[in-house]
Amino acid sequence: MPRPINVLFVSAEVYPFAKTGGLADVSYGLVMALRERGVDIRVMLPKYGCVSERKNHIHEIRRLRTIEIPMGNRLEPAAIKSSTLQNPRVRAQVYVTTNYTYFDSRKGLYTDPQTGKPYPDNDERFLFFCRSVVEMCHFLRWFPDIIHYNDWQTATVGVYVRTLYPAEFRRTRLVFTLHTLSDQGVFPPETWLKTGLPANIAERLLHRGMVNFVKAGIEFADVVTTVSPSYAQEILMESIDTGGIGELLRQRHPDTFVGILNGVDSTVWNPQTDPYLDHHYNAETVWVVKPLNKRQLLQRFELRYDPKVPVLGMITRLYAVKGIELFLEVAPTLLSRRDLQIVFLGDGAPEYRTALQKLQRQFPRRFALFLGFDETLAHLIEAGADMFLMPSLQEPCGQNQMYSMLYGTVPIVRATGGLKDTVRDFNPETGEGTGIVFEEATPQALLAAIERALELYRQPELWQKLVANGMAQDFSWSRSAQQYVELYRALTKGKEAVRAAVL
Ligand code: GLC
Repeated sequence: MPRPINVLFVSAEVYPFAKTGGLADVSYGLVMALRERGVDIRVMLPKYGCVSERKNHIHEIRRLRTIEIPMGNRLEPAAIKSSTLQNPRVRAQVYVTTNYTYFDSRKGLYTDPQTGKPYPDNDERFLFFCRSVVEMCHFLRWFPDIIHYNDWQTATVGVYVRTLYPAEFRRTRLVFTLHTLSDQGVFPPETWLKTGLPANIAERLLHRGMVNFVKAGIEFADVVTTVSPSYAQEILMESIDTGGIGELLRQRHPDTFVGILNGVDSTVWNPQTDPYLDHHYNAETVWVVKPLNKRQLLQRFELRYDPKVPVLGMITRLYAVKGIELFLEVAPTLLSRRDLQIVFLGDGAPEYRTALQKLQRQFPRRFALFLGFDETLAHLIEAGADMFLMPSLQEPCGQNQMYSMLYGTVPIVRATGGLKDTVRDFNPETGEGTGIVFEEATPQALLAAIERALELYRQPELWQKLVANGMAQDFSWSRSAQQYVELYRALTKGKEAVRAAVL
């Protein structure tokens, strides 16, 4: 038996501690799946003000009560605390960085919930966090085989590893996963002064005249991954706007960049056991039980329940890449012409919040809106809605379309990134397919796709087939987690092994 690989997994969001989107679910699901495959994996995240120490069983580690982190010309204290991540079968050690100024005093993760604006010192906050990760390892004399970090918030972990303690970490390999390129952590050049890094590496953090954390993450990583094969392709071909990151990956990492599709954690997202639902079901009972969830969902918003009227669900962060504008363009037509109810859960850009509130005032009986994030409601929407909409302009992977299929909720998605890799368009002739897929990012194409779903909904036999196809899909983490295990193993062996694992 080879000795288990040890990994430190670093993420700005981890379910159930802190979540704004899919990153949190993936951090939890992947870590648990790797743990089940014998990987000795530990997790690290910041303790934001919204993370309750009591609920999450976070407690002090005496030795790590004060680690001093150099920030500019002063020292900021970080206390590293401990908790666990678990499912019914395994558990993993969690480290949380606590600091009052940067994290505990803020309710939001990246944006101020009061104003909807990003915190002006996000560069400093996450530099501090990344440095705390590296200083903790150094303090503990723990130099894991792999440090796996995610998105711009944690991207500078690799930079600090390689510049502060190159000798100590010489056996440590670095994996950087891109969950999105639509937010690259781009800051003015002055941000450089906050990094405390030697001047000779400045070039490696700068991109088009700005400090770009994603670029820094790529520069120092041994392998870069992203969360679906199609998104990897789109990045490399620059068929989506990557702001030049695609070119960078082509030049620097021809065979150290790979797309591995995310999975679904079946202890959290399974309609038969879902801890957030009152009414559980499977492919046989969906026809009897889904209506109970639908009724409960509509009741929550004081909307009328009518079994004949389909409910369309949407759960998304409010950003342009998620196709919010497309939705806002078609919604009034749809809601005034069609017998349909829409339930929308999301948060983000203030202008979209306002537009959605307006829609809600215009169609109070058909459009239900919850601005913010609520895990229980997210599960109830997946279980209670008949259809689920993701009109994304870009979608690195997307989790909700997979949850939808497993919950017997038909996804309507645009053919991009992970949506393309997970949903197959339904063909009424053959009865094959798991959702409705449309190509063009236009209001017409979106409207036509929704019309197509509504037509099918009125033909119970076809609809039942479509729902059954979705529920029969296997999106478990098994395959993807195995791919990560192979990648980690290859990294401990050398370049040739990595090339073989990636290709
Ligand atoms: C980001 C992406 C989403 C992906 C998730 C987890 O939220 O936008 O597509 O599923 O990360 O990787």
